[in-house]
Amino acid sequence: MSYTTVDELPSKVGEEVRLRGWVRRFRSSGKISFLVLRDGTGEVQCVFVKNEVSEETWEGLAGAEHEASVVVEGQVRADERAPSGVELTATGFGLLGPAGDFPIQPKEHGVDFLLEKRHLWLRSARQIAIMQIRDEIMRAIQDFLHHEGFTRVDTPILTGAIGESAGTLFETEYFDLGTAYLAQTGQLYVEAAAAALGKVYCFGPTFRAEKSKTRRHLTEFWMVEPEAAWLDSDANMELQERFVTWIIKRVLFNKREQLDVLERDVSKLEAIEPPFDRMSYSEAVELLTANGSDVEWGSDLGATDEARLVEGREKPLFVYDYPKGAKAFYMKENPEDPRTVKCNDMLAPEGYGEVIGGSQREDDYDRLLERIREEGLPESSYDWYLDLRRHGTFTHSGFGLGVERTVTWICGLDHLRETIAFPRMMTRITP
Ligand code: 4AD
Ligand code: MG
Repeated sequence: MSYTTVDELPSKVGEEVRLRGWVRRFRSSGKISFLVLRDGTGEVQCVFVKNEVSEETWEGLAGAEHEASVVVEGQVRADERAPSGVELTATGFGLLGPAGDFPIQPKEHGVDFLLEKRHLWLRSARQIAIMQIRDEIMRAIQDFLHHEGFTRVDTPILTGAIGESAGTLFETEYFDLGTAYLAQTGQLYVEAAAAALGKVYCFGPTFRAEKSKTRRHLTEFWMVEPEAAWLDSDANMELQERFVTWIIKRVLFNKREQLDVLERDVSKLEAIEPPFDRMSYSEAVELLTANGSDVEWGSDLGATDEARLVEGREKPLFVYDYPKGAKAFYMKENPEDPRTVKCNDMLAPEGYGEVIGGSQREDDYDRLLERIREEGLPESSYDWYLDLRRHGTFTHSGFGLGVERTVTWICGLDHLRETIAFPRMMTRITP
């Protein structure tokens, strides 16, 4: 007999099947035993009746401990009370790999312990739901961008130029060429590709030596970075709101069950529709100051300020046109107020903070060179980047959406460490 998977069972009612997987739960009354088996495609309850199975099968069930790997044979039975609509009337049992004192038991464990055992923690129902939602988001991102005519361009992880800020670089020796940096962003490279292909994006892991131990920072995180020729800052925000709405709709449509496992209030997600709210940085500072914040015009907004700005809002908020000094060197100077740059952050509602950072890029050669000098960046490393302004410079914009922050928001989690299988943080490099 070949093996069946749990997701196939509803179409096999009445048939004899053989399943393999792990024991989620087991309990026995002495006459009847219930084994919940999970196999990656779902969970099913297998019912063993002592008088109806062989003695060998019944005795073998002693090995059916939490997280042992097992084989179960039996007949598929329709059962209205079961979540999947089926149960197994089990006749055979085999132990493949004993559970061996599984460290994570159905009780409260501290998060440090769980992170230490992350390779095993992944098997819990909650972690499985998060991974499945993350996967849906990864696919929705690519589907949207292909639908909109974007071409994926894969950018290097080992780079010679600082992408975002000198303060958070991971460095490594690179043969005779000196120091290489792990990419903080693929942006500078997708800008080059946008002059070739029009609409492009990169999608991969990025690295920042963040010394902050916050709920929002990883040292290795995934970012998707669309970049488009002839797109200005306003059109960039419109693209972002359509993008985020699409991602959320896809999760609501395909992953409702997983959102339920996480007890996510889906009405909060259903409310996300374009247009999102918009507010200039200067308006934001005015509003915050009026509400008692000590934020000063010129500095970036902190997490508390961001939370205050979205309070009472159902939809994300764009804060646009930040002061030059608070943002990266490549952003376009605002012709209407040269103290500021044409950029935006997208702040998620419910206090989830910045999920997107985007901007129109400086396309003027002289101004860009001046900014590189002001920031004290090594000019020679940016010569190729300046070439894009020397040869057929063009209006262009783009943005970066952080995958883990987006998953945190959509899943309604407290901390982004659960949104990636093996999180990398300042204090964690294993497992
Ligand atoms: O705002 P950031 O730094 O923007 C850029 O990197 C631009 N080059 C993007 C672009 O215009 N192409 O980062 C973009 C997003 C943030 O909004 C956040 O969602 C996420 O990346 N992010 C992080 N996520 C987890 N851990 C960190 N340490 C993160 N830093 C940024
Ligand atoms: Mg940012």
